[in-house]
Amino acid sequence: MTDVSQKRANSNAQGEGEPILTMAGEEGIDPAAGPEASRKFRNALGQFATGVTVITTVTPTGEDVGMTVNSFSSLSLDPPLILWSLAKTASGYVYFQVGDPFAVNVIAVDQEAWARQLARSSGDKFVGVDYHRGLDRVPLLAGCVAYLECVTEARYPGGDHEIIVGRVRRLFNIGHPPLLFHRGIFHVLGNPSADAR
Ligand SMILES: Cc1cc2nc3c(=O)[nH]c(=O)nc-3n(C[C@H](O)[C@H](O)[C@H](O)COP(=O)(O)O)c2cc1C
Repeated sequence: MTDVSQKRANSNAQGEGEPILTMAGEEGIDPAAGPEASRKFRNALGQFATGVTVITTVTPTGEDVGMTVNSFSSLSLDPPLILWSLAKTASGYVYFQVGDPFAVNVIAVDQEAWARQLARSSGDKFVGVDYHRGLDRVPLLAGCVAYLECVTEARYPGGDHEIIVGRVRRLFNIGHPPLLFHRGIFHVLGNPSADAR
């Protein structure tokens, strides 16, 4: 790699006498070093391209809850588990207790407006959104790529978020083209580069 260099230093963040590693002329950043470093941490995380989901549930009094989430990930095939991270500040924070139902709606490329609407804090998030009622009356947005109907299996601390582990009890795999998210912007899937198998 031509963009990587190391030079000796008497003292740096990596410890006394350790080499300073630079990549493309940049020194590494400690994400906890302050507000500017925190912003750079956020930007680095944004380089990881993801799909987009909307997590939905319904409160015990029958109110629909939905939030746009890109921290979704597969976790286990057997048993069938998925995970996502929930901000402690989210208005829906209290509704994902162990045993509570929720659904992962994998957002299609023509559902960007709904993804934006369900990321907002104010107003009725479901105005103009078409949905069906799934297990336990949890909303399933019409026209998604796939649906995973889950029950919260566990919650784990994760800094300013909490990791929600869901056990999948029913799925629908429709297969519409997905919406993507990269560097804070929604994208359309491009051409496949190669078969990974
Ligand atoms: C693309 C995208 C991805 C997001 N991913 C997450 C996430 O993984 N976890 C989370 O807690 N919030 C995430 N958010 C923010 C929530 O959607 C947003 O804070 C929430 O819907 C605000 O509603 P509330 O104030 O009712 O909680 C994301 C927002 C966008 C636009």
